Amino acid sequence: MKREKINILAIESSCDDTSAAVLRGKEVLSNVVATQKIHEEYGGVVPELASRAHQQHIVPVVHQALAKANMDKRELSAIAFTRGPGLMGSLLVGTSFAKSLAMGLSVPLIEVNHMQAHILAHFIAEDGDGDGPQFPFLALTISGGHTQIVLVRDYFDMEILGETLDDAVGEAFDKSAKLLGLPYPGGPLVDKYARQGNPDVFSFPKPKVKGLDFSFSGLKTSILYFVQRETAKDPDFIKKNLKDICASIQKTITGILVDKLKKASKQTGIDRIAIGGGVSANSGIRKALQQAEKDEGWTTYIPKFEYCTDNAAMIGIVGYFKYLEGSFADQAVSAKARYGIDG
Ligand code: KG4
Ligand code: ZN
Repeated sequence: MKREKINILAIESSCDDTSAAVLRGKEVLSNVVATQKIHEEYGGVVPELASRAHQQHIVPVVHQALAKANMDKRELSAIAFTRGPGLMGSLLVGTSFAKSLAMGLSVPLIEVNHMQAHILAHFIAEDGDGDGPQFPFLALTISGGHTQIVLVRDYFDMEILGETLDDAVGEAFDKSAKLLGLPYPGGPLVDKYARQGNPDVFSFPKPKVKGLDFSFSGLKTSILYFVQRETAKDPDFIKKNLKDICASIQKTITGILVDKLKKASKQTGIDRIAIGGGVSANSGIRKALQQAEKDEGWTTYIPKFEYCTDNAAMIGIVGYFKYLEGSFADQAVSAKARYGIDG
């Protein structure tokens, strides 16, 4: 089969986004994402509700992805799906659906590691390219569920150099936002106010964590005490200082990430840095990376935003590479809530 004729339907359901995508080779023909709004009122993802919402969304989302790609089910070469890591109840919906569809269509089934997918999203063809960063490179995956620095030697040869010991960086943004009275998910709002504020007005301690690991729970506690102390003196403190507080928090988080990246780059001698995950939308992080291109001589890579947040197109690109290798899953494959990036 010619490479450009490989049509993959990919399904992602690891957390709170139900997504389906159709790829022809490395090109994305459609990428439909149904984001679950139900969790907003709870201030975070409720696993049981996520699983039920996936069940409601999955059929219409797959239909839409096929229709947008103008593709008939019978033209599909394989079905790829997120096997893990993620919430078990959510993963089960995508896994069962993918297995049934592959069986019904008599096409191969491809299991995909969600964390590998965040990284391989850099190889999705954009404007006819799709070459992605040259190996080896360093990948920083930052989202509501992950914070990792990964050494990527090849498509399926990855090693975690550092990761968070507690909260993910997106959680750090969201929990800080909550302490400031902002709605969930607060990360984008912190970013919005930060852009209008002065980052040097308040200072928060950076954690001292060995090696390339991260920790964000201490920052959350220090923000909590700071807010309690200041609002006891002036109940309107947050309202009056929101922009400067957000800018100062963002500067602290960005500093933590960039410091570790610099350390990882020195340690490995690699200056190609690729970031992914929903938090890569953050303006402070983007600016800091642009600065590091000048100061450190890095080449940085940030995928299009729709391929940074959870989406099925990134599952599809991994599916494509596995298809080329003939790396198919058995019908007995089961979802894996804890699934290391190295298998
Ligand atoms: O990748 P993603 O859509 O979902 C997963 O968590 O897997 O990432 C969502 C996270 C949330 O914590 C959200 O607050 C954060 O990314 N986020 C941001 C920004 N945009 C999204 N955090 C800071 N600044 C942003 N601009
Ligand atoms: Zn993710």
